[in-house]
Amino acid sequence: MQKLVVTGGKPLRGELSVQGSKNSALPIMAASLMCGGECRLHRCPKLTDIYAASRILNFVGCRCTFSGNSAAVDSRSIDRTEIPEELMREMRSSIIFMGAMLGTAGECTVSVPGGCELGPRPIDMHLTALKRMGVDISELSGRIVCRIPSGRAHGAKISLAFPSVGATENIILCAVTADGETVINNAAREPEICDLCGFLRACGARITGDGESRIVVKGKAKLHGCEYTIMPDRIAAATYLSMTAAAGGEIILTNACVPETEPFLSVLEQTGCSIYTGENKIYLHSGVRLRAVRERIRTMPHPGFPTDAQAVLMAALAAADGTSIFEENIFDCRYRHTDALIKMGADIQVLGKVAIVKGVRRLHGANVEATDLRGGAAMAVAALAAEGTTQITKISHIDRGYEKIEEAVSALGGDIRRA
Ligand code: UD1
Repeated sequence: MQKLVVTGGKPLRGELSVQGSKNSALPIMAASLMCGGECRLHRCPKLTDIYAASRILNFVGCRCTFSGNSAAVDSRSIDRTEIPEELMREMRSSIIFMGAMLGTAGECTVSVPGGCELGPRPIDMHLTALKRMGVDISELSGRIVCRIPSGRAHGAKISLAFPSVGATENIILCAVTADGETVINNAAREPEICDLCGFLRACGARITGDGESRIVVKGKAKLHGCEYTIMPDRIAAATYLSMTAAAGGEIILTNACVPETEPFLSVLEQTGCSIYTGENKIYLHSGVRLRAVRERIRTMPHPGFPTDAQAVLMAALAAADGTSIFEENIFDCRYRHTDALIKMGADIQVLGKVAIVKGVRRLHGANVEATDLRGGAAMAVAALAAEGTTQITKISHIDRGYEKIEEAVSALGGDIRRA
């Protein structure tokens, strides 16, 4: 099993081009099966989750190939509507193929991705909404069997109890080829939803309101192929910025999505780092010690502080001057990285959804295990700032979301290697 070996204490300096967004690329790949033609996707990150999505595409009869950071998906020969359990389990967000398959073939059989490292991840909102659009859903030996009796879903007015990203995506995917108009109230406003809609519009779909809480989709019988460039990954950007903030140094992120990263930047700025932004660029300079963040850091749906950046910022604040308080409002089990940070010398107390982080003088290296994708990245952030060497195992979690993390950090002068 591979591990990352990180020796802390070296400042990070240089320029880094931000990878394409994983959370955009995955639903866009699922959507590409709806086009009945060829889609070319650029800035596709090379990640294990992306390859898992390509295996699903190939299984249902598409031809998905990669050349560098571009993917080509030809969906003219789809001949299956069942996705086997082992493919569904490879990646939690495989559930997004449900809406895409329904929008294309009018039926699909999938399974619920099993237990999740962030706690239970129900899909009740996805299912309730799809039922309103005319989908019959039943459970058969642990499989979810979905069928639209008329072959084509119909538009509906849907109000989500919570702005779920995945549910909003599944509804949009089913709605673009549905008969009539679908209105989603309390829709997720995440930038990745806008990217998915941008892609679908490039394929001929009629969608308005994405980025706001009311999205309107006017169904259309057929879509067509297109060429599309995936947005930069705002969470990868937040991770490399947190690393530099924690280890000290100076970084310029290029190909960054600035407005979309602002909810994170406005909090990071309070640690005393100097941050300047330009068109698609973020510059950060971090001096000697970070300051704790005074206001409570509450994770919220976009444009609130992103839950995916909670762990990496916490790792940076673990050795700041003063006490920072986090409040995790999106997922129940999103503090699993704290045990590893404590092992590295952090002083963190978790009380339900709140984590109290008292900055220590210095973290130290330790042997730790990645608990989940962003939790594992947080351990890398802490390790780069710590005294001594840290070994992070179970890095398959990290590889789900970061393209060659060790190469990116080494190029900035960090002492990190894969062993
Ligand atoms: C997506 C992102 C993930 C991010 C999250 C929140 C992808 C591939 N993943 O996950 O990185 O952390 O958004 O920004 O894009 N919920 C229900 N019932 C449902 C659906 C969701 O109770 O039917 C709950 C979830 O358990 C969770 C909350 O709603 O507590 C938010 O989930 P959701 O926005 O759906 O996140 P994902 O789409 O799974």
